[in-house]
Amino acid sequence: MKPIHTEVIKVNPMYPEPTKIEHAAKLLRSGEVVVFPTETVYGLGADAFQPVALERIFSVKGRPYSDPLIVHIADEHELEQLTTTIPSKAKQLAEAFWPGPLTIIVPCNPRVPHLVTAGLDTVAIRMPRHPVALALIRAAGSPLAAPSANRFMHVSPTTAQHVLADLGGRVPLILDAGPCEVGVESTVLDLCSAIPTILRPGGVSLEALHTVLPEVQPPPQRHLENKEAHLDTTAQASPGQMLTHYAPTIPLLLFDGSIETMRDTMLTEVKRRVRQGERVGVLVADEDIPTFQDSGAVIRSLGKADIPEQVAAALFAGLRALEAAEVQIILCRNFDEHGLGLAIRDRLLKAAGGKVFR
Ligand code: TXA
Ligand code: MG
Repeated sequence: MKPIHTEVIKVNPMYPEPTKIEHAAKLLRSGEVVVFPTETVYGLGADAFQPVALERIFSVKGRPYSDPLIVHIADEHELEQLTTTIPSKAKQLAEAFWPGPLTIIVPCNPRVPHLVTAGLDTVAIRMPRHPVALALIRAAGSPLAAPSANRFMHVSPTTAQHVLADLGGRVPLILDAGPCEVGVESTVLDLCSAIPTILRPGGVSLEALHTVLPEVQPPPQRHLENKEAHLDTTAQASPGQMLTHYAPTIPLLLFDGSIETMRDTMLTEVKRRVRQGERVGVLVADEDIPTFQDSGAVIRSLGKADIPEQVAAALFAGLRALEAAEVQIILCRNFDEHGLGLAIRDRLLKAAGGKVFR
């Protein structure tokens, strides 16, 4: 790809300036891609009905065509162009969680380009709640297909600076509205399977989904054996869900177990590596800081361990900060699975390539 100039425009996150939104919308209508903020992570948007624009998403990210895209809407009327039947469960979920970090998989309207669906007969749809995202979709006059605005296989960006580091020189425009509130991607819920099943845990928790649909199934189990977790590949219904999908560019070791065991095994491993002259990064919670203070590792905290909203919001920025600190390896603690914890554990397991030390 020939490098292009990337314009970064600061936008008011609550009251986006109409002239800035119109500038971005014009690019989208002309078949260009634009990076915009959502409440989860930054997205790389294109008009969902312009195949040429959709092609750009894949070439900018280096993403394989086999990985389908989420279509972002600003109004429920837009569902009609995207799906054939709107399941009653979809209406209930939309009522409860839209706008918000929930993506639903529904039967796809044949009008939807194959580049969006990867040729599947289903389509992923969500209505984001970020005012900038909503204003942009409305101004563009069409639903926007948008994956996370990172290079393929890298962690998702939660600031415009993260996007610039990955896609600078490859996209014409980044709308910068500051850090994303949720910090992990949306929950992807399959409404086309016999029982609604989470394909990717995310910004809407399993507990919250259960208040509306008690039958919702958690994501397919990852089996723990011999200190290692393996993804059951037969249960891999979401094409982008391979274990290395969110990998940071440096190896990550994930530690689980009781808080004492986790700290002890991590500290022993940190000290061993530091003694060997390795530059080690640790990703921990506020309450773990004293344990690692004098270990010689670069420490990054994700906030209070029992506030998963804090940890989720800090997670991807934490991984990128340790990459930027040029550590050779990251050692990270795990978190409880309640609430957003399920999504946090999922992203950490992927960053660790599926391995967990206990
Ligand atoms: O929070 C988010 O969802 C962000 C923001 C930008 O909205 N977007 C995002 O998109 O994370 P992406 O492309 O990075 O992840 C989309 C996920 C992939 O795992 C993909 O395989 C899955 O959704 N997906 C898309 N369409 C699907 C379909 N028809 N069936 C099953 N999975 C699908
Ligand atoms: Mg992604």
